[in-house]
Amino acid sequence: MMDLGIDLVPVEKRKSKPADVLSVAFGTVFTDHMFSMNYSNGKWKNPMIGAFQSLSLSPAALVLHYGQGVFEGLKAYRRGERVFLFRPDKNIERLNLSAERMVMPTLDNDFALQSLKKLIHIERDWVPQVPGSSLYIRPTLIGVEPKLGVRPSTEYLYYVILSPVGPYFKEGFNPVSIMIADRHVRAAQGGIGTAKTMGNYAAGLLAGTEANRAGYSQVLWLDAHERKYLEEVGTMNIFVMFDDEIATPPLGGTILSGITRDSVLQIASDWGLNVKERRISIDEVMSGLKDGKVKEIFGCGTAAIIAPIGTLHYKDTPYTVGAGGIGPTTQKFYDEIVGIQSGEREDPYGWVIEV
Ligand code: PLP
Ligand code: COI
Repeated sequence: MMDLGIDLVPVEKRKSKPADVLSVAFGTVFTDHMFSMNYSNGKWKNPMIGAFQSLSLSPAALVLHYGQGVFEGLKAYRRGERVFLFRPDKNIERLNLSAERMVMPTLDNDFALQSLKKLIHIERDWVPQVPGSSLYIRPTLIGVEPKLGVRPSTEYLYYVILSPVGPYFKEGFNPVSIMIADRHVRAAQGGIGTAKTMGNYAAGLLAGTEANRAGYSQVLWLDAHERKYLEEVGTMNIFVMFDDEIATPPLGGTILSGITRDSVLQIASDWGLNVKERRISIDEVMSGLKDGKVKEIFGCGTAAIIAPIGTLHYKDTPYTVGAGGIGPTTQKFYDEIVGIQSGEREDPYGWVIEV
């Protein structure tokens, strides 16, 4: 294993922590330290925990032109004096899969996890205490070689930054309203939709902005080919509760393999629910909303955990989901996952790892 350099910011130069983390906009406050490591000549080198600071990059760095960059998102939670991570090994695995898709070097899984744990340990005072808050962790890997030719970089930077956060949506754990994107698409078969890479988020900005302008929180993406089947909701995976089944779109090559999605699938099957990964057409959802077969819909992802969907707006008409509130099963998943993450509930899966 490589030696990890540590250069701590003097205590008197450290930042003050937000007085009310729940009122801070998501991802706008950063801690004192970051992890970074460089790659060149075929090798990772200089792993380092030092001050959080601006990067020095050539304006020709490949990531700035051709988007050769991937990232992750996970959270650290506090229980009294102890700090825990939720399934961090899965994020590192996915970071490496995204890196492979974008022709980037992968990280040694153990080293990536150990260095991440070390950084969180150093910054543990930044992990907030109040319910609904956590320390959001953003590992990022970018191609930094200065070169305008379109090809994979030979030089990379991997870094990890940390941000104390409250709820992702201003609504908190409350129903959000969603506009169904019937013109724009997020990802097509054969593209990069399964990678957590920058271009996917750039592709979503216009539809997301149009939805916000129309008063909606996020968009629901349909498949690029037929504009018929549900894919994801904003930056979350989606689940639909029918009267006799709970369903989520399959990992068919265009959607991100969410760790929260995987957790919901596992919990649902342990609860004995009839859970399926299958294609769900928008027509099935719309007619199910009209005749009452669709009971609840929710999005799920690390940032929001579970986001109940209260309204769906499709082709100029708003449709209320169930009674428009938080459905009982959505609430049950939220309570279970938050309970496991916060240590209030038993973790039969070994998902929670102490830092
Ligand atoms: N889909 C997209 C596009 C995402 O960016 C995310 C967030 O990481 C998810 C789904 C949910 O994934 P996870 O549950 O691993 O956070
Ligand atoms: C999620 O955790 O659901 C996300 O997609 C994170 C987002 C800030 C990109």
